[in-house]
Amino acid sequence: MKVAIAGATGFVGTRLVARLHQDNAEIIVLTRNPERARRVLPASTFPRANVVHYDPKQSGNWQQAISGCTGVVNLAGTPIADQRWTPTYKQSILESRQVTTAKLVEAIEQASEKPSVLVNASAVGYYGTSETTAFDESSPPGRDFLAQVCQQWEERAHRVEAAGVRLAILRFGIVLGPGGALGKMLTPFQFFAGGPIGSGRQWVSWVHRDDVVQLIVEALSNPAFSGVYNATAPNPVRMNTLCQTLGEVMHRPSWLPVPAFALELLLGEGATVVLDGQQVLPKHTLSAGFEYRYETVKPALQAALAEFG
Ligand SMILES: NC(=O)c1ccc[n+]([C@@H]2O[C@H](COP(=O)([O-])OP(=O)(O)OC[C@H]3O[C@@H](n4cnc5c(N)ncnc54)[C@H](OP(=O)(O)O)[C@@H]3O)[C@@H](O)[C@H]2O)c1
Repeated sequence: MKVAIAGATGFVGTRLVARLHQDNAEIIVLTRNPERARRVLPASTFPRANVVHYDPKQSGNWQQAISGCTGVVNLAGTPIADQRWTPTYKQSILESRQVTTAKLVEAIEQASEKPSVLVNASAVGYYGTSETTAFDESSPPGRDFLAQVCQQWEERAHRVEAAGVRLAILRFGIVLGPGGALGKMLTPFQFFAGGPIGSGRQWVSWVHRDDVVQLIVEALSNPAFSGVYNATAPNPVRMNTLCQTLGEVMHRPSWLPVPAFALELLLGEGATVVLDGQQVLPKHTLSAGFEYRYETVKPALQAALAEFG
């Protein structure tokens, strides 16, 4: 198997590279910053990973690296909760996904030896937010900014199907592992000052990083995987439960709520990512026979925390 990955240097991508490498795959790391990519994915550890510089906004020679690959995985995009959502930042959240996806699809269309599959990330933000509704893959999209981003991201990916290439869209929940959202939540707990964020009633549709990686691997290798799959665990929890369980696993109290206004001050409109959630169920993923390693949140948190070292 030979797989090209955009966004391979990120939280999910690095784990995916390690997994594919272990499976003896050849990997093309498409990156905007090869020097950084080689630090994150050293050649000594990953000799079968070839780093290719690309400008995801431009067509170019990098697109030739796609030819001859078995599959392409698209995980690229500006992080959504790292900065205050200024108009420029929102534009970057949207464009980085739209344009990168469009250029990858263009590369696949033009390849002399076409990959047979594109596995494209999306997010549970597709559904909008709700404290009461449960969403599955057949639910309609929401109307807020992230829902629009996800729709446009997926719309660009769908264009690959016209070239006869199989498409699997994975709508990621909050990925639990050593870093990502969990990394940001840990510090207050370590200092005995952890607690629920905002009302605590918002849903968190979480998934362990190893399950996301396994789902990507199955979507790459199993021709039956086609369409949209929620990459979320079958048992989403409310924020209160997540923080309570995190406290238990860390042997720390979960008592000091983080008020909504503090996050709004920090992230502006972007605070919605943590303050408002959605209950998302992986109906299609389960009916496809996918077996989760982490179905409930406590063992997932235990495993993720063990990896922080
Ligand atoms: N982690 C989660 O909880 C979660 C939840 C829902 C959805 N997702 C989505 O799933 C994908 C992978 O998640 P992740 O947590 O692994 O993301 P991540 O750690 O932020 O990594 C994303 C990668 O995208 C590339 N990138 C960053 N800014 C970019 C830009 N402006 N244009 C093009 N590429 C850019 C970077 O690669 P280079 O610098 O090497 O180019 C980076 O390594 C992301 O699109 C994310 O939005 C993640």
